[in-house]
Amino acid sequence: MDDIRNIVILTGAGISAESGLATFRGPDGLWEGHRVEDVCTPEALARDAALVHRFYDERRAKLADVRPNAAHEALAALDAQWPGELLIVTQNVDDLHERAGAKRLIHMHGELRSALCAGCGKAKRWTEALPPGSVCDGCGRALLRPDIVFFGEMPYEMDAIDDALRRADLFVSVGTSGAVYPAAGFVQTARHVGARTLELNLEPSAGSFYFEESRMGAASVLVPELVRELLG
Ligand code: APR
Repeated sequence: MDDIRNIVILTGAGISAESGLATFRGPDGLWEGHRVEDVCTPEALARDAALVHRFYDERRAKLADVRPNAAHEALAALDAQWPGELLIVTQNVDDLHERAGAKRLIHMHGELRSALCAGCGKAKRWTEALPPGSVCDGCGRALLRPDIVFFGEMPYEMDAIDDALRRADLFVSVGTSGAVYPAAGFVQTARHVGARTLELNLEPSAGSFYFEESRMGAASVLVPELVRELLG
């Protein structure tokens, strides 16, 4: 690992599982009890805003009951000490990476603790329940919605993510099933530019085949181990 300068780390729901936040496709997956089409699409918001707002209000409220685990803390330590470029791209909408201290972080699927104006596009910090029909205080006319990238919408900061991937010497994927694009395709970009590719996951993911190395196990064990390797 000594020829590594620029690192991109993709995280998914698996990194927050040991903090007590449900993953999406596990046996107790979040989507069970809710069909994706009913809570995470623009059509769902138009059809039943109360259900969608309630779904995200429940998940936002849960953040008060959980805290970062050793994997989040190890990545924050790497962020603080790594001399080269480092970018943590999370698919998660929880705030555990930032609460652990991560700074070089992109939430590509949005954040629970943010509300988005469907009119002017302004996002604002939001920590309480977000009642349907809340009006944006920026433009004063359009409605606020959960700042979550729904299926069929463009994830955030894709240019910055692509730039970082094209400069990477190491791409690490942590706790993701590799089921959802564009995140599931990041390993291809990394391979294309000759970066080392490493997957840390509880079980083989849909993309394991594309990784040069896959380590199976809990993120709270594998991530601190990797950070110790990288920081020497
Ligand atoms: N340590 C490491 N990996 C774990 C752990 C753990 N403790 N617990 C679960 N995992 C793994 C599972 O084996 C699974 O492969 O984490 C992965 C979680 O997969 P998903 O539930 O599909 O979550 P994710 O990959 O983040 O989903 C991607 O899909 O529904 C959309 O927008 C949503 O961001 C989400 C995206």
